[in-house]
Amino acid sequence: MSSTREIPHLLVLHGPNLNLLGLREPSVYGTQTLADVDAALERLAEELGVEVACRQSNQEGELIDWLHEVRDRFDGVVINPGGYTHTSVALRDAISAIGKPCVEVHLSNVHAREAFRHTSLTAAVCVGVVMGFGVDSYLLGFRALATRILREADGSPARVGDAPVSARTARSSRKRRARRS
Ligand code: DQA
Repeated sequence: MSSTREIPHLLVLHGPNLNLLGLREPSVYGTQTLADVDAALERLAEELGVEVACRQSNQEGELIDWLHEVRDRFDGVVINPGGYTHTSVALRDAISAIGKPCVEVHLSNVHAREAFRHTSLTAAVCVGVVMGFGVDSYLLGFRALATRILREADGSPARVGDAPVSARTARSSRKRRARRS
């Protein structure tokens, strides 16, 4: 873990236009709002025994500044870069620079959409990508990242094909927290 903090701290970043979730093209992005997504992530974080902070920006530079913050203040990041996925070398460079695992998520399956969405400049510098499952893309990506970080903290390397974080792992991390408080 990056800091003296015992509980892993994950950042979730929502890129441009995601503040309009629920209103914007509901046939593509669904009817749940960004507040619904953040509330679901907070519930999942509690279940897994990790902390989460969720932020949204329409500004590329602000997203980059927040990624830089991950270097010292977070253990990993889940990002939906929105339209910047397909255009932003600067966002890609920021993800490369943080030295912490990053998971890219998309509500829609971008490969089933317009050709310009088929390229992701950011995916290659992420540890994984989840797309096409609506809000569940965030929850699946978050669970995978938290599992990886908790396993690393326990000294057991993540293996391909491993099941998602078990109730046992979440329980033991809650017990560790209780013992330390
Ligand atoms: C998106 C897909 C992008 O192509 C689009 O520009 C978005 C949302 C998604 O979550 O499906 O803004 O990232």
